[in-house]
Amino acid sequence: MKAVLADSEVWSSTKDTVVLMDYEGGERAITWLSKVSKELGDMLAQSVCSNDFRFKEAQVMVSYTHGHLPSKRIVFAGLGKKELFNINKVRIAIASAVNHVRQMGVKELAVRVAGHDLGVEDGAFATAVVESAILTHHKYDIHKTEKDQVFLERIVLAAQGKVKEIEPSVRYAIVVASKTVMARDLENMGSTEKPPKMIVDYVKKFSSGRIKVTALMKKDLKRMGAGGILAVNRGSSHEPYLLVMEYNSSKKNLPLVALVGKGIIFDSGGHSIKDACNMELMKCDLCGAVGVIHATMAAAELDLPVRIVAISALTENAIGPDAYKPGDFIKTMSGKTVEILNTDAEGRLILADALHYAKGFKPEYLIDMATLTGACFIALGSECAGLFQTDDDLRRMLMKSGEETWERLWPMPMWDEYGELMKSDFADLKNVVANGRTGGGAITAAKFLQNFVDKNQKWAHIDIAGVDWVEAEKDYRPKGATGYGVRLLTRFLADLSKQHY
Ligand code: BES
Ligand code: ZN
Ligand code: ZN
Repeated sequence: MKAVLADSEVWSSTKDTVVLMDYEGGERAITWLSKVSKELGDMLAQSVCSNDFRFKEAQVMVSYTHGHLPSKRIVFAGLGKKELFNINKVRIAIASAVNHVRQMGVKELAVRVAGHDLGVEDGAFATAVVESAILTHHKYDIHKTEKDQVFLERIVLAAQGKVKEIEPSVRYAIVVASKTVMARDLENMGSTEKPPKMIVDYVKKFSSGRIKVTALMKKDLKRMGAGGILAVNRGSSHEPYLLVMEYNSSKKNLPLVALVGKGIIFDSGGHSIKDACNMELMKCDLCGAVGVIHATMAAAELDLPVRIVAISALTENAIGPDAYKPGDFIKTMSGKTVEILNTDAEGRLILADALHYAKGFKPEYLIDMATLTGACFIALGSECAGLFQTDDDLRRMLMKSGEETWERLWPMPMWDEYGELMKSDFADLKNVVANGRTGGGAITAAKFLQNFVDKNQKWAHIDIAGVDWVEAEKDYRPKGATGYGVRLLTRFLADLSKQHY
């Protein structure tokens, strides 16, 4: 899907199909359309008055213009109630339009840049339209022998007189949406297709020359005493990696952000084996790492003036003759020891090493992202990720980025009482509170991680266990992996580097 800007008004920017959005009731659309064609305006008024089509949220209707306008069709798309409007309603409307025409003969959709009419910035409007079109258009069909026949090729933004002003926002949207789509493909792949080495090769292949990629192998991890990653890896036939991406590393005057991702290519639970129900979703247990990797690639492609070190801990959590077992003790890279009570609480063990390793870079901000706990999904469902942090400014910045991208976050408590529960009778820490019925699992996991972060570090932990996957197609998210976090983190990095898109 291509996105282009046209320095013309919308009707003359395509001979194919124009998308016309409005709030429920469609008053403005009717007035506006009547000005260019009385017949079409009357037709639309009739549809609205007869309650056939009312511009309700996500509602779409296709009409033919019968020669009254240069474009062949109009897709009317609903933004829903005016009082409930926010920028995500634009994404939803575009997603409905794209899904509706995707398998029709429509090759091109044109949209007028109408941010000001809706009380949002034109740039933000353009970004929302383009990213939604790209995100909706792409479906994971690598394994389908017969692919859907899709004609739709282009989205045209009609930005008469303001092309220059809008251009960076369109480019921004193309970059973040393309990286999100790549992230989704990698997440949706079966784990057998993506052993840690494949992820390393993938990152080397797709990182621009601006990113330095270092892959620490098993022998390096042994030398460094990365007991968390090595323990989790013991049941797997694939070598583990600690993958480090550095962007702008020589520009010491720029703020340094360390991003850390959980990259479990498959989480069987190990000896504390998971139930078969939904186990297939554990191919997505690398979504934190994939999000961090693609946000870093996006930042580099956008040339953001910020320094990034992105660290992904990559391994499988499998069962093999040498797999680690409940009752084992391990020593993490930090020197802290952990009593293993449950081999399914593996994410925190690999993150313990990755977070400790991140310390060495002395980042201004440290953000980790992980499909860490089912408990987070139970607590928050699928509309937001859990946010745990040690710095209020960082919380505000991340929550703002979450609102803007609609990859929303919700703050969770970090009280020490929860941390107390992670102390072991035999080692420094235990990896779960207990195997019976315990509560607050997302919080105790976050408190476990805090043991591996410096006391004064501005740190945020994002638990994405509920948002990495959608069970059924939802607006611009096709069924499957969502690529959550790519847009959130890129927006955070752009805002931090004071780049306005
Ligand atoms: N990868 C899972 C968390 C998860 C669950 C992600 C569901 C996405 C959907 C993690 O490694 C895990 O298994 N956590 C355990 C922790 C428990 C043993 C304390 C969990 O959530 O059950
Ligand atoms: Zn697990
Ligand atoms: Zn896991």
